[in-house]
Amino acid sequence: MVYTMQDVQEQLSIVSEDIEEYVRENKIKVGKGGTLSTKAYQTLLDFYSAEKNIINEKPVYVLNGNKINVKTKPFFESDNQRVSIFHDDAINFLKKLPPASVDIIITDPAYSGMNQKLKLGSGKIIGKYSDAGQSHAKWFEEFHDTEENYKAFLKECYRVLKNNRHIYIMFDSYSLLTLAPVVRDVFEVKNLLCWDKINIGLGHYFRRRHEFIMFASKGKRPLNSKSIPDVWRIKRVTGSQYPTQKPTEVFELMLKGSAENDFVVCDPFLGSGSSAIAAIKANCKFLGCDISEKAMSFSKERIEQFLITKSDRYQKTSLVSEDDAMIKLFSNGKS
Ligand SMILES: C[S@@+](CC[C@H](N)C(=O)[O-])C[C@H]1O[C@@H](n2cnc3c(N)ncnc32)[C@H](O)[C@@H]1O
Repeated sequence: MVYTMQDVQEQLSIVSEDIEEYVRENKIKVGKGGTLSTKAYQTLLDFYSAEKNIINEKPVYVLNGNKINVKTKPFFESDNQRVSIFHDDAINFLKKLPPASVDIIITDPAYSGMNQKLKLGSGKIIGKYSDAGQSHAKWFEEFHDTEENYKAFLKECYRVLKNNRHIYIMFDSYSLLTLAPVVRDVFEVKNLLCWDKINIGLGHYFRRRHEFIMFASKGKRPLNSKSIPDVWRIKRVTGSQYPTQKPTEVFELMLKGSAENDFVVCDPFLGSGSSAIAAIKANCKFLGCDISEKAMSFSKERIEQFLITKSDRYQKTSLVSEDDAMIKLFSNGKS
């Protein structure tokens, strides 16, 4: 029987770098494509099962009642321990979470395809593209949306999500065309929602006014409400100090559709923290991460203040459009 390194990873839900390190240090023979002999497979399994038990007995960081990797400490955790954010790469972060530990994923990844495209235009939209990732940059780090990377991301999303739960992933038109089929391979895609930003933005071939949100499930779960339309008319955030800050109402609608009190909401591309604010408003717990330091300090300040004052200093007013259907959705309990 031929096993692979991936089999070990899947069997024990551990990070692949950890296995690779152990394999290197113990000179375990690995064949082409990560294949292992039965003996090597058993050695790895025994070692990690023992280590996992040790970790489970020792004090580890406890997150919303779940134990997670001892190496992981939050950048910020609220006093009531309902909100934690981590300075980490999305895939790395998800790998550290136990299987089936999250109730809903709501996220807005930083797709590189769209940014590359914008770079070909004036490139001045939100600063110099070449500055991306530097401390003074207006551009943020990108998540490279190759199919391979995206598959790895979705695989982790699937693993951490409980069964019979929902996931919402935001897409621009470029990334949607290439990556939507990959989502379909992993989750049951239920609908493609349209966020209508009401005012037009920039664009060479028709000016952009919308973004998409892929709505999918792991297993079966009805929506909380049958009266939410699939076009969401919510104005964009203007003048934000964090590029691509989204209105909290976009995330609030996702949660109106799918969340219950105390659900664990996860956003692995946190940005300015809009999803965290939406989760707090919906009486949910929240787990988020972002690769950018700026995102961490921005979100921390925003969340901390919101928890104390109940006011959002980075989105002071509602951005919901003034049509009756949308207003009704946001007038408490009448949706
Ligand atoms: C489109 S923004 C999210 C905006 C957010 N929804 C908001 O309302 O502010 C995407 C975020 O992904 C982060 N990012 C890029 N690559 C990442 C990675 N590999 N892992 C985690 N975060 C990443 C960026 O720093 C950026 O904050």
